[in-house]
Amino acid sequence: MNKMNTKKLYIKTWGCQMNVYDSRRMEDILSPLGYTATENPEDADMVILNTCHIREKATDKVFSEIGRLRDIKEDRAKDGKKTLIAVAGCVAQAEGDFIMERAKAVDMVFGPQAYHELPEMIIKATGERVVNTGLGVDTKFDQLPQESLNHGAAAFLSVQEGCDKFCTFCVVPYTRGAEYSRPVTQILNEAQKLADAGAIEITLLGQNVNAFHGEGPDGKIWTLARLIEELAHIKVIERIRYTTSHPCDMQEDLIFAHRDIPKLMPYLHLPVQSGSNKILKAMNRKHTAESYLEILDNVRKVRPDIAFSSDFIVGFPGETDQDFEDTMEVVKKVGYQSAYSFKYSPRPGTPAAAMQAAIVREEIKGERLTRLQGLLNSEFLKFNQKYVGQIMPVLFERKSEKSGNLQGRTPYNQSVTVAANDRLIGQIVDVAINHASPSNLRGDVVTVEMVAKSA
Ligand code: SAH
Ligand code: SF4
Ligand code: F3S
Repeated sequence: MNKMNTKKLYIKTWGCQMNVYDSRRMEDILSPLGYTATENPEDADMVILNTCHIREKATDKVFSEIGRLRDIKEDRAKDGKKTLIAVAGCVAQAEGDFIMERAKAVDMVFGPQAYHELPEMIIKATGERVVNTGLGVDTKFDQLPQESLNHGAAAFLSVQEGCDKFCTFCVVPYTRGAEYSRPVTQILNEAQKLADAGAIEITLLGQNVNAFHGEGPDGKIWTLARLIEELAHIKVIERIRYTTSHPCDMQEDLIFAHRDIPKLMPYLHLPVQSGSNKILKAMNRKHTAESYLEILDNVRKVRPDIAFSSDFIVGFPGETDQDFEDTMEVVKKVGYQSAYSFKYSPRPGTPAAAMQAAIVREEIKGERLTRLQGLLNSEFLKFNQKYVGQIMPVLFERKSEKSGNLQGRTPYNQSVTVAANDRLIGQIVDVAINHASPSNLRGDVVTVEMVAKSA
């Protein structure tokens, strides 16, 4: 390509894996326009902040980043260089007009449903500031290009977007809109392209991925289990995962898929949020602690070694000491492999933000979070220690810049660090596990000599 035409693109991504996927797709869209990625915002002709609105802290970070970029933009302007600053993602969707008003350095604001319109928006933004925060998701995926899907050995594939659940604490139904499932043929094509480009693991993404109900090539509505069954026929794909799921959509066929489809990894991220039925009700979760535990039991019955993961919120309005203890009980009963836990953060426009009377003090939230994370860490360690002394198949995904070690994952989604040759990146390799921490395993690649010795 003519050097004059190459432009640099810097994307910073916050939030969930959907945002990571979206950022990759924005790179794909902009590459035919001559944009190549840079790690350095000072070099960038265009900057995209792909933002998250889920908690207050996530949102605050965006505004401090815009401040930093404004200075860079001014410095570059002194050298006669233009810099387009775009805010994308869920903060853009929720607070687009506010951003435009408060941050004059921002040229474009657009929500997650507008990424396919990026080329037109860029042309428009040379003359005026652009805001695009409509919520029509159904045409977006049809119009995203699929040229450069080289996303590594472990790739993401978005199959479902949006949410109709309206948990009272959550902004996602407002920022991502109504639930939408992509047609199956489109997904299979994208999966094949990912496989052709070197993916051997695919994680199916959706805000409520197990509510998937996409139109199949046979004209019928396919469930997530049916989709996974079909994806498993792609030869080079050896591992399939899906995230994130809602307990109420954990249908029987998906549970049985964990028994019947060997490529479906023995790992399930199924957030419970709280162990108190009173709080679950106030959260509008539509399940109880008992019904949640029963689902996990049913999955364990068909796949006894399955690893579980969850999300927790502490300090939801009205949460008493006893409610919190109920959450601790659930953690002890399940024995999680991993989990994310958060202090409740009131989000503008959500029903829970109006539950003023029952606010839990920040100090109490902090204490509860510390206790919960202490317990969770001891559970993670217990889970990981079971694998010390065992040989595990690890998919090496990348090299750590700092240590030079390779990072990979076991079927149970445990992260593994190994000192090994770079050429193993992108392969599934047997590793003898010799050390466990709450969040990581370490080990050595199993060599022919090791096998001979142990025989
Ligand atoms: N669709 C997923 C979750 C998406 S958001 C699900 O239903 O489980 C990811 C996690 O962020 C949630 O599971 C929840 O634990 C947390 N979260 C969402 N809103 C929050 C809020 N207002 N305060 C604190 N944590 C929140
Ligand atoms: Fe948010 Fe609830 Fe939807 Fe998950 S299910 S995205 S927590 S509203
Ligand atoms: Fe955040 Fe939006 Fe994902 S709010 S968690 S980036 S759906």
